[in-house]
Amino acid sequence: MMKKDTRAEPLNSGGHVMEVINENSEVLVYIDEHRKFLVKPRVKPKLETDRGIINVEDLIGKKYGDFVLTSLNVKAYLLKPSISDYIEKFRRITQVIYPKDLGFIVFKSGISSGSIVVEAGTGSGVLTATLAYYVRPNGKVYTYEVRKEFIEIAKSNIKMAGLEKYVVFKNKNIEEGIDEESVDAVFFDLPMPWRLVEVAYKALKASGTLTIFVPTMEQLLKSINSLRQHKGFVNIEAYDTLLRLYKTVPGEIRPMTWTVAHTGYIVFARKVVI
Ligand SMILES: C[S@@+](CC[C@H](N)C(=O)[O-])C[C@H]1O[C@@H](n2cnc3c(N)ncnc32)[C@H](O)[C@@H]1O
Repeated sequence: MMKKDTRAEPLNSGGHVMEVINENSEVLVYIDEHRKFLVKPRVKPKLETDRGIINVEDLIGKKYGDFVLTSLNVKAYLLKPSISDYIEKFRRITQVIYPKDLGFIVFKSGISSGSIVVEAGTGSGVLTATLAYYVRPNGKVYTYEVRKEFIEIAKSNIKMAGLEKYVVFKNKNIEEGIDEESVDAVFFDLPMPWRLVEVAYKALKASGTLTIFVPTMEQLLKSINSLRQHKGFVNIEAYDTLLRLYKTVPGEIRPMTWTVAHTGYIVFARKVVI
C-alpha cells in the first residue's frame, strides 16, 4: 500500500505557490519579532497571547504565508518553521553554539547531504540538530554525551525539530574512543579537545575534517599545539566570527545597541596520512 504523504500540499494561489497546512503540519505563528509561536494544530487547540487568542485547529486548510486574525483583531502570519526557528525554541541546559558560528562550521567542515559525522558533547543538541539538518536524508550524526540527563533533553529538542531519524545518541565518554570508522567529519565542543586529537584521527577518513569549538584562548592554544604535535593534520586554521544584527525599523536602520561579542574560537584541520 502507498504510504500517505502527510506533508503540506503545494497550491498555486494568485500566482503564489502556497503550501496548505494540514493536521500534521507545524506552523510558526508570527505576530512580531517578540511574538513567534511554534504550534501543531493536532496538539495545541488554542494559542493564547497578549495580542489575542487563536484557535489553532482553524489553521488546518489555511496556507503558509497567509495570515489569520487573533480574537483582538491582530494579524498573525502563518510561516513554515525553519531549522533556526526550531533551534530558537530549544530547551538549553548547557552553553550552546550560536547561529553566527553554526553556519560557518557547517560550511568549513565540508559536510553535505549523506555525510556521516561524529560529535561530542551533545549538550542541548543545537549543533547536533544543525548537523542532522544538513546531512539528511541519507547521512547520520553520531553524538556522544557523558550526562544521561542532557541526552534526554537534547533528544526531545531534536524530536521537536523532526530530525530524530538522522541522529544516534550515545551515552559515552568520547575519551574512550569513537565506535564509528571512516567518518567524514568530527566535531568537538567539550572542555578538553586537545586530549582527543588521536581519537578523532582514528575515526576520520583520510582528508576528513576535524572541527573544534572552544570558548577560551588557553583552550585554543592547547588545541592548536596538540594538532601540530600530532602530525596527522594539515590546513590547521583558527577563527572567531563576528556578526552584527541590524534594526530594520524604517528611519532607524543601524546596528543593534547590544550584540553577542564573544562565543568561542573555531579550529578546523584536515586529516592526512602520517
Ligand atoms: C558546551 S556543551 C555542548 C553544547 C552543544 N554543542 C550544543 O550546541 O548544544 C559540552 C557538552 O560536552 C559534554 N562532555 C564533556 N566531556 C565529555 C566527554 N569526554 N565525552 C562526551 N561528552 C562530554 C558535557 O556534558 C556537555 O554536555
